[in-house]
Amino acid sequence: MPAADQSSKDASFDQQTDTSEKEEKFDWYAQWYPVIPVCDLDKRRPLGKKVMGIDIVVWWDRNENEWKVFDDTCPHRLAPLSEGRIDQWGRWQCVYHGWCFGGSGDCKFIPQAPRDGPPIHTSSKACVAAYPSCVLNGILWFWPNADSQYKDIFSKEKPPYIPEIDDPSFTSRMITRDIPYGYEILIENLMDPSHVPYAHYGILKVPRSSER
Ligand code: FES
Repeated sequence: MPAADQSSKDASFDQQTDTSEKEEKFDWYAQWYPVIPVCDLDKRRPLGKKVMGIDIVVWWDRNENEWKVFDDTCPHRLAPLSEGRIDQWGRWQCVYHGWCFGGSGDCKFIPQAPRDGPPIHTSSKACVAAYPSCVLNGILWFWPNADSQYKDIFSKEKPPYIPEIDDPSFTSRMITRDIPYGYEILIENLMDPSHVPYAHYGILKVPRSSER
């Protein structure tokens, strides 16, 4: 084969490899993830939870009439915001020094700041990360990246939707269970049906295959 032909073949192979590598790249932090069924939430109380390795707090913002998902870390001294409370104006209040936040994660009030001093609560350093979130199929979902480029992500990309869950002619039941392991262990388990008659003995009615 002439050298020129070979080099163009090599270039084409390299290009294909580059393309397939790009196609295979999956950004785990640019996807919707279910947090909890809404029926398990209480508008009077926060819910602290770890999802995708991120500590989050879910709370009901009565001013915007929607659930909010914040990073569970106060920007002041890193206290868990899930220990906080909703103040009389419906803002999220940190339990440590009382900083208050609006539904976008913006700091509304710093009790210790002098009233006639500079408005330090407006500093971006005083904001808490607010993740995009939505309710679909009766489930609260969140997008684990608070970068401003994802602020309106719901208008461009939606979580997976199962119409039957919202269809009253079907019955549905939500059950959640926190299991402290990663998805790869779960997938391995789900692809291994031979364990079912034994590990779930007496729970699932599946006949054992080669019993004598
Ligand atoms: S740690 Fe939250 S207000 Fe100080």
